[in-house]
Amino acid sequence: MAEIVIVPTPAEAGALVAEEILSLVRRTPDAVLGLATGSTPLPVYEALRARRDEVDLSRVRGFALDEYVGIDPAHPESYRNVIFREVVEPLGLDPERVHVPDGSLDGISHAGADYERRIAEAGGVDLQILGIGTDGHIGFNEPGSSFASRTRVKTLTEQTIADNARFFDSADEVPVHCITQGLGTILAARHLVLLAFGEGKAEAVAGAVEGPVSASLPGSAVQLHPHTTVVVDEAAASRL
Ligand code: GLP
Repeated sequence: MAEIVIVPTPAEAGALVAEEILSLVRRTPDAVLGLATGSTPLPVYEALRARRDEVDLSRVRGFALDEYVGIDPAHPESYRNVIFREVVEPLGLDPERVHVPDGSLDGISHAGADYERRIAEAGGVDLQILGIGTDGHIGFNEPGSSFASRTRVKTLTEQTIADNARFFDSADEVPVHCITQGLGTILAARHLVLLAFGEGKAEAVAGAVEGPVSASLPGSAVQLHPHTTVVVDEAAASRL
């Protein structure tokens, strides 16, 4: 059973998770963080930024969950650029220690296996930050994804393309394919921290935390993990 923490505001969720991360880094200065994109984890990164002088973050290692396939590397919404802009630069992390799956078309046939190897070489992820899509996806593991899956190329659903169109000029510009850590990769992290805010996530949260464990709602995979913390606001908790 996941530990569920209901907080009044996203900022308080950010502060709580930032404290968890800082105490991990105090114990393990080269801790491996699993980094998520999307709007949900931003309060965590903001809270960390406000406290970045308290703990030496220079040895922290990071692995992003996913990346769009074939996106222009200069595009501001490539997840590599988002992770570097929102996390690596403001927190002063060592860019050499932070990895994002390679979504370039050239390397796509071996990018998944390469990424898995790098995570394994780092000794696995200590704390994985997760958001959840309105269709219940985590990373970009859309409904139907295998619980045993590892980093690989997937096709985005219409729903996710519509949800993510706000980051692009139009829905037509949202890449159709992505490379994402698999549910098996995510479940191998030592601690999962799933965040969700707002009424729009309430159904996905209820399904993930209390619904049947099923590939039709990939977030329900977190129920299989022995150490999951779910941090939600009242609205996202409203269907629990
Ligand atoms: C995106 C990302 C996920 C994220 C989710 C929710 O497509 N690939 O990692 O958790 O969708 O996004 P948001 O936090 O902006 O609602």
